Amino acid sequence: MRVRLDAFEMFYSVSGAGPPVVLIHGFPLDHTMWQPQVDELSKDHVVITADLRGHGQSQATPGPYSMDLLADDVNMLLDHLGLGQVVLGGLSMGGYVAFAFFRKYQQRVRALILVDTRAEADTPEAKARREQQAQAVLKDGPGNLVNQMIVKMFTQKTILNDTTLVERVRKMMESTSSVGAVGALQGMAQRPDSTLLLESIRVPTLIIVGSEDSLTTVSDAQRMAGRIPGSELVIVPEAAHFTTLEKPRGGNAAVCRFLPRMSL
Ligand code: MLT
Repeated sequence: MRVRLDAFEMFYSVSGAGPPVVLIHGFPLDHTMWQPQVDELSKDHVVITADLRGHGQSQATPGPYSMDLLADDVNMLLDHLGLGQVVLGGLSMGGYVAFAFFRKYQQRVRALILVDTRAEADTPEAKARREQQAQAVLKDGPGNLVNQMIVKMFTQKTILNDTTLVERVRKMMESTSSVGAVGALQGMAQRPDSTLLLESIRVPTLIIVGSEDSLTTVSDAQRMAGRIPGSELVIVPEAAHFTTLEKPRGGNAAVCRFLPRMSL
């Protein structure tokens, strides 16, 4: 389905019935990365997945896409759908957007699910690397960036043995428009540090991380868990950065244990 937000047309999908769960994808992915979770959770929840601006089937606008801007888009989508409080989940960049959303619209957040993400801002070196990547994408498209990224997104074992999954995700990443990829890279580089925000989170929070994630590591996740009061950390074995895609059963099991614990 599509909705015209203020500056662009956003693509989104709604499945199932029950208390609402909104899942925000990582970079440079789209809403279909959540298919294994949609299949499971839509049995007793309404699951909303959307393509962030510049990704998937949503239109691209000139960037940078600050995490606040992407959070505003999600907020407008919830208004359009007439939803009040939701469980909000995000993977990696989706987690950065979830932090921005919590900062601006915390009354709308019933619970948080933070997957393979981190609270810290980019270091100056990481910011510079993102700008180089953005310039390379503008010049040659996202192909080289995807080649560099894909080997870190999955474990070696999955890269060797599950070429169907890896190629599906590669295509998803390659189909991100250059304008969209640049907008997100520049937006992520600008994102503020969310470490202090963690201590103010008073909603049930589930943190999931792949045991072999080298981008947002187990120690990043442990630091977040240490600062978010009452949060729960689940380390999924044999998964790298795209845990819920690589090990959907482990990811789903964690979420399915977590959701019923709150009266939604
Ligand atoms: C993602 O998976 O969303 C990105 O790798 C996050 C990042 O580059 O910081």
